[in-house]
Amino acid sequence: CTVRHYKFNVVMKNTTRLCSSKPIVTVNGKFPGPTLYAREGDTVLVKVVNHVKYNVSIHWHGIRQLRTGWADGPAYITQCPIQSGQSYVYNFTITGQRGTLLWHAHILWLRSTVHGAIVILPKRGVPYPFPKPHKEVVVVLAEWWKSDTEAVINEALKSGLAPNVSDAHTINGHPGRVSGCPSQGGFSLPVESGKTYLLRLINAALNEELFFKIAGHKLTVVEVDATYVKPFKIDTVVIAPGQTTNVLVSADQNSGKYMVAASPFMDAPVAVDNLTATATLHYSGTLDNTPTSLTTPPPQNATSVANKFIDSLRSLNSKQFPALVPRTIDHSLYFTVGLGINPCPTCKAGNGSRVVASINNVTFTMPTTALLQAHFFNISGVFTTDFPSTPPHVFNYTGTPPKNLQTRNGTKVFRLAYNSTVQLVLQDTGIIAPENHPIHVHGFNFFAVGKGLGNYNPKTDPQKFNLVDPVERNTIGVPSGGWVAIRFRADNPGVWFMHCHLEVHTTWGLKMAFLVDNGKGPNQSLLPPPSDLPKC
Ligand code: C2O
Repeated sequence: CTVRHYKFNVVMKNTTRLCSSKPIVTVNGKFPGPTLYAREGDTVLVKVVNHVKYNVSIHWHGIRQLRTGWADGPAYITQCPIQSGQSYVYNFTITGQRGTLLWHAHILWLRSTVHGAIVILPKRGVPYPFPKPHKEVVVVLAEWWKSDTEAVINEALKSGLAPNVSDAHTINGHPGRVSGCPSQGGFSLPVESGKTYLLRLINAALNEELFFKIAGHKLTVVEVDATYVKPFKIDTVVIAPGQTTNVLVSADQNSGKYMVAASPFMDAPVAVDNLTATATLHYSGTLDNTPTSLTTPPPQNATSVANKFIDSLRSLNSKQFPALVPRTIDHSLYFTVGLGINPCPTCKAGNGSRVVASINNVTFTMPTTALLQAHFFNISGVFTTDFPSTPPHVFNYTGTPPKNLQTRNGTKVFRLAYNSTVQLVLQDTGIIAPENHPIHVHGFNFFAVGKGLGNYNPKTDPQKFNLVDPVERNTIGVPSGGWVAIRFRADNPGVWFMHCHLEVHTTWGLKMAFLVDNGKGPNQSLLPPPSDLPKC
């Protein structure tokens, strides 16, 4: 088996976008950061060296990390952060996965500039289950903030109000033609007529789901979150923060310069950065990269456009890549996700209250010792295992909220027996307003077996579940004012974070963790921590 070595130097880098410059935290001076390439089965060693004043940790989003939770990366969940001047080697093996994922900082809001692609090629000699593309291109979607993102969130936490939104979206680091700074151009994708290209789309934005489309070209979706899907053609892809989507694009025009557009999707009354990022797909023979064939992005609240994409997703479920959906359930969980209001005497702007977020009414408090260490070394007093399996009070997603809006703070985890099967219904609540929450589960892929609007009905809804070829992913949008049901097998011992991938909601407390016990058999326990594991 192959071992791949990477060195990630976390350094400040002066970067110019939207006609102004500022120092940003980067990996190796790049925005977006370097692409990590590997093959299925490879072992990857990434030495992360922290040269900045902030504490840092890096998460390999979507990598299963079987028994290697120490390399997962969320600060204070699986490790203490890498302090300024320190380093840590993330050491993990890629097992049973191939496709596109992303890596990103997993502490504070550093993810806004500290992120990049992970490309996992199939094992040598194993073809894709779709025609081999002429070329492959990584396309990272993100945001650009004129101000410092740490300052943005700290300001919001002080006031109790929602933070500012970004100043532009970006495609491979550039806002493109709408930035008002045309000299900076945008990303450009050269193509040859008649050839097919594989685009590896990643949403690395902090706080916004994005639509993605290309003027004059259809997209054939072949993979999401590093799992193959039954191919389908569509005009517009929707992609939430943390999600990835591979599409084939046939260069079936003769010539021209076509606009590539990334624009926000938000079907709730919430402020968004509504600038469309643009890039250009240009046919060989055309020199400059200003698009002449334009496209209009969907309106920001185009739920039907989003659903058309989401409802088309099915696992490939082939002989080689079967969908191993759990058929029996050991833990049936029902979690509400949403925003709420808590008192905050010091919040002047918030009139004595602050926005919080919760799962089953628990606003997660970050510990000061990493949960995985506390678990492995039996350190008591760091977390409790009383995370509720159902909502503590009756609610209705549109109706009257419960009298007491206040959430409970706690560092609570939900404990799962090794290899037990889990059905988790994630229910959006509309205590402030219903909103779409892209929920990410660390350490697992899950199957999205059902989805609906309104309150989940445990009697009738399961009858409609797809247990044959549901899409398999690691991040899923809980629809605004609705629910999704996911299933997974707890076959990965350790402590696994689950949270909303809209970073503002995570900051407000929309997060929890699963603790999966060791199994009794060989190779069923969490491995011991590496000797360079950072200390708190
Ligand atoms: Cu991509 Cu816990 O995050």
